Amino acid sequence: MTHAVENPSTTRPHGLPKRAVGIDVGGTGIKGGIVNLDKGTLTGERFRIPTPKPATPEAVAGVIGEILEELLGREKAPAVAELSVGVLVPGIVVDNQVLSAANIDDSWLECDAGTLLRDLPGQIHTFNDADGAGLAEAHYGAGSDTSGSVMTVTLGTGIGSALVHDGELVPNTEMGHLEFEGEVAEQKASAAARERADMPWDEYGRLLNRYLVHLERLFSPKKFIIGGGISKRSEDFLPQVTDVRAPVVPAQLKNNAGIVGAALHAAEQTRRQAAKR
Ligand code: BGC
Repeated sequence: MTHAVENPSTTRPHGLPKRAVGIDVGGTGIKGGIVNLDKGTLTGERFRIPTPKPATPEAVAGVIGEILEELLGREKAPAVAELSVGVLVPGIVVDNQVLSAANIDDSWLECDAGTLLRDLPGQIHTFNDADGAGLAEAHYGAGSDTSGSVMTVTLGTGIGSALVHDGELVPNTEMGHLEFEGEVAEQKASAAARERADMPWDEYGRLLNRYLVHLERLFSPKKFIIGGGISKRSEDFLPQVTDVRAPVVPAQLKNNAGIVGAALHAAEQTRRQAAKR
């Protein structure tokens, strides 16, 4: 099993380096950090640069390069020879190809992130943002005590989702684009949609209840984890989520979930690729 622990004092999956780097490309900021894979925490401060406008792949790649340069100049940076870097973008990503761009500049569509980032140091792997956050929560956060399937739903500008089963990610589930009550789910139930509609929190909680019931019928996870900035206010809307059988809990890793999950998944991908050689 991939997530077998090395020894009782660490949750680092077997064969991974102690540290890796995660970078999360968001709508307003691009944030990076060195991640301690034993603990799922940042080693040192995270480093943030505002997202360039327009956020074209080339402009974002330049910022990722600056972030990496800063992080790798630190004392506790991983050696370049064993460096894995996970980069998260808010779109479908298959084999480093970005295949959708709902909440990101259109020019990302069909972008080959492998080619775009190939001159940067280390082994670079690009994934979906919610997949990064969900993997981190499943491994180190609110899902770490749960076996079977854990579904993370991130509520922000859009809705992102991550399905992790016994530590293994099923990538690109994109539950924000599911049809829900006649609309694209994220257009109705994201945090941004709540703000646009000036919807009271209790009404939003009831909407979320119906959405999660819908997801539960499809996936029956053992736990739902609610992520995104809005999870800080979960007491305002989770009390209305009453019809879901599985526990529904707020994310624990908060702002750093994406960075941590990106680093973990990148290190796992590097190890898998090395094993195939
Ligand atoms: C995108 C997803 C992303 C989510 C959260 C959605 O619009 O399609 O890929 O995970 O927003 O950023």
